[in-house]
Amino acid sequence: MVRENWGSRVGFILAAIGSAVGLGNIWRFPGVAYENGGGAFLVPYLVALTTAGIPLLVMEFTIGRRFKGSAPVAFRRMNKNAEAIGWWQVAVSIVIAVYYAAIIAWAGWYGWFSVSQQWGADPGTFLMADFLQASDGFGDFTTWLPGIGLAMVVVWAFTLLVIGAGIKKGIETTSKVFIPLLLVMFGVLVVQALTLDGAVEGLNAFFTPDWEKVREPGVWLAAYGQIFFSLSIGFGIMVTYASYLKRKSDITTSAFTVGFANSSFEILAGIGVFAALGFIAYESGVPIAEQTHSGVGLAFVAFPTIINTLPYLAGLFGVLFFASLVVAGWTSMVSIVQVPVAAMEDRFGWGRVKATAVVGGAMAVVSLLLLPTASGLMFLDVSDYYINQFGIVVAALVSIVVTVWVMWRWKELRDDANATSTFKVGPIWFVCLGVITPVMLAGILFLSLRDLLAAEPGLEAYNQYQAFGWALAGGALAFGTIMALILRRKEVPPIETEEEAHEVEAAL
Ligand code: ALA
Repeated sequence: MVRENWGSRVGFILAAIGSAVGLGNIWRFPGVAYENGGGAFLVPYLVALTTAGIPLLVMEFTIGRRFKGSAPVAFRRMNKNAEAIGWWQVAVSIVIAVYYAAIIAWAGWYGWFSVSQQWGADPGTFLMADFLQASDGFGDFTTWLPGIGLAMVVVWAFTLLVIGAGIKKGIETTSKVFIPLLLVMFGVLVVQALTLDGAVEGLNAFFTPDWEKVREPGVWLAAYGQIFFSLSIGFGIMVTYASYLKRKSDITTSAFTVGFANSSFEILAGIGVFAALGFIAYESGVPIAEQTHSGVGLAFVAFPTIINTLPYLAGLFGVLFFASLVVAGWTSMVSIVQVPVAAMEDRFGWGRVKATAVVGGAMAVVSLLLLPTASGLMFLDVSDYYINQFGIVVAALVSIVVTVWVMWRWKELRDDANATSTFKVGPIWFVCLGVITPVMLAGILFLSLRDLLAAEPGLEAYNQYQAFGWALAGGALAFGTIMALILRRKEVPPIETEEEAHEVEAAL
C-alpha cells in the first residue's frame, strides 16, 4: 500500500499549525502565563520554545519523514526495542482525544448560548449546576447528559469523516480552510477586546513582569509543560504528520514556522483574554488578580460574564470566542486521533477507512460514555493533569534520551534534516536537544512529583482522584510496553523507496 503524501508544503505547515494551535493556546496559556510571572513568564517560555520546543519538533519531523511511519513503526524502524515508545505515545493521544472532544462540544453549545446569553446572570452556577450537572466524585457515570452527548457525537463524526477522507483530501483541505478562518475570527475578537474600557489595565496585568517568579523552578516547569502540549510534541502527532512528507521537503524551516506561528497565536490569545479581563475588572471592580484565568473557569465562566457586560455586539463577541475554540480545538483533535488510526494502518496493514472506523469508533464510544456525565468534568480534570505531566513530559524525555543517547541517532537525523533544509542545524541543536532539554525535563518531573506527593488532600474524592490519575498515566506506559511485547516477532515492512512509491502511484 503506497503511503499518502501531503499535497504541498503549505498544506503540511497549515495542518501542523492546525494541530499545534488548539485549546492549549486559547484557554490554557493566558492563565499559565499570568500565574507564573506575567510578562516575566515570557523569558522561561521563550527559552523552552527555542531550547526544547523547536529542537524536538525538528527531531520529530525528521524521524517521521525518514522512517515513514506513525510513532510505533517509526521507532521500531530505528530500533527493534524502541517500539514501546511509539505505542506509549499512541496511548497518551487516546486519553487526550477522549476528553478533548468534550471541551469542543461545550464550546459549541456556548457559542449558541452566546446569542441570547442563555447562561443568565450567574454563569458559574449555570455551568456547574445546569449545564454540566457536575458532581464532586467519580462515581456518577450513569447520569448521561444528552445535550452534551449529542454535540460530542457531532465532534467525533466530523473528526472521523475528515480522517477517513485521508491526508490530502481530508486533513490538508480542512486545514487550508479552517486555519485562515480561525485567524480572521480570532483577529476580530482581539481587536474588539482591545477597544473595551479597561483593556489597557488588563494588558498591564498580563505583561507586568514579576521577576521574583522567574527564580522559582515551578515557573520553568510550567513553561516547558506548556510548550510540549501546545506544540503537539512528545505524543506522536508530529512524527505521524511528518511521515506523510515527501523526502525532499524542508524540515527545519517548517519547524521554525510552526513553532513561531503557534507561539504568536498564543501570545495573541493572552492579549485578547487579558484585555477582556481588564474590561470586566473595570466594570465590576473585581481586580484581575481575583478573577479566573485558566481552563474551564476562563472559557465558561469568565467569558460569559464578560459577554453579559459588553456594551455592544455581545453576541458576536461570544460567537467569535467560542467558534475560535471549536475550530482551534477541532483541528488539533483531528491530529490527535490520527496518531492511533495511523498506528493501526501502518502496523497491521489495515486500510484507512477500517482503521478510522474501528479505532476512532472505539475511542468515540468510550468518550461518549464517560464525558457527558455528572462526573465528566472531574474525569477531564484528572486525565488532563496526569496525562500531561506524567504522560507527555515523561514520554518526551524518554524519546529524546533513547534517540540521542541510547540509539545515538542524532547525527543521522541531523544530516537527514540538513540534506533538504535551507536552514541547517548543528552543535547548538544537539546541545539543546541532547543536554539542556533532558536535564530540564528531569528537573520538571522531580519537582512536580515532589509537589504532588506533598500536596494536602483538598477534596473528599482526592484518593480516588490520585489513584485514577496514576492509573491513566501508568496505564499508558503499560499499554505501550504490552503492545511492543506482543508485536516483538512481527516485523515491520521495509521503508518503501521513493521510486517504489512513484511506481505504485503511477500504476494506480
Ligand atoms: N497542541 C494542541 C493544543 O494546544 C493539543 O491544544
